[in-house]
Amino acid sequence: MTIRFFTLGMSATFGAAWLFAVVLPFFKTRELKPVPYVEAIDEKTGVYFPKRTGQIANGAKVYAQNGCYVCHTQVVRPTYAGNDIHRDGWAGFKADPDRGDTRRESNAFDYKDESFAQIGLMRIGPDLSNVGSRFAKSAIDQNLAKKEQLGDAFTDSMKVSPESLLYAHLFNPRATVDMRWSTCPSMSFLFEAPKAGQSIPNPKPEARALVSYLMSMKKNDTVPASMNYAPPKPAEK
Ligand code: HEC
Repeated sequence: MTIRFFTLGMSATFGAAWLFAVVLPFFKTRELKPVPYVEAIDEKTGVYFPKRTGQIANGAKVYAQNGCYVCHTQVVRPTYAGNDIHRDGWAGFKADPDRGDTRRESNAFDYKDESFAQIGLMRIGPDLSNVGSRFAKSAIDQNLAKKEQLGDAFTDSMKVSPESLLYAHLFNPRATVDMRWSTCPSMSFLFEAPKAGQSIPNPKPEARALVSYLMSMKKNDTVPASMNYAPPKPAEK
């Protein structure tokens, strides 16, 4: 083998990988063009604008500092690359009481307000793209179950909020017997020293920012049909 052939082969091998893994994705996602709704299919006009509210920037920093991305992804994989849509609650809900099927894949707009897209390294824990929606639903379900159990004895002050469930998880993911197996690390250092009678102490500002960030993770707003995994058929005339 000549040195010339070797060098060319080497450049071609690394060049091809670099081209497809770095250069093409960079040019494809560098500038996000607005995606319009098509009235006949989406029953909506205008362009898609992602909705997210909360302490996204501060919370994302706490998320990064504590290595949450090592075990949690924030990508609902596209159908062609290992479907996640069937995991109810990961991609949205199949039977949302108000809107029906809200499931969808991740898109580049989902990371719009983040200076660093925390797509994650591994999936030791569940994907967190829709963790806000899951905890919101979980709080509703728990309150309904308690109401059914206690009847009129159930008062508003006994209601749990999605945020309180998240604080409980962050403080001690292994708090209940059926979660003893959890390998999610306790973030109890993001809480103040417990006061008498408190099972979960008051959160520090970092914990509040993190929970606000987690609650903002509801990537189930209606996207244009062109971005949906199973776009509805155009209405028949
Ligand atoms: C060592 C791996 C690991 C790390 C690091 C980790 N987690 Fe977890 N996490 C898990 C596992 C495993 C579960 C599933 C078991 C459970 O619910 O406790 C989980 C579950 C969760 C859940 C519940 C998800 C749901 O839908 O029920 C939340 C919220 C969560 N983690 C947040 C975090 C946050 C925030 C961080 C960073 C501060 C973090 N995790 C760091 C492994 C990890």
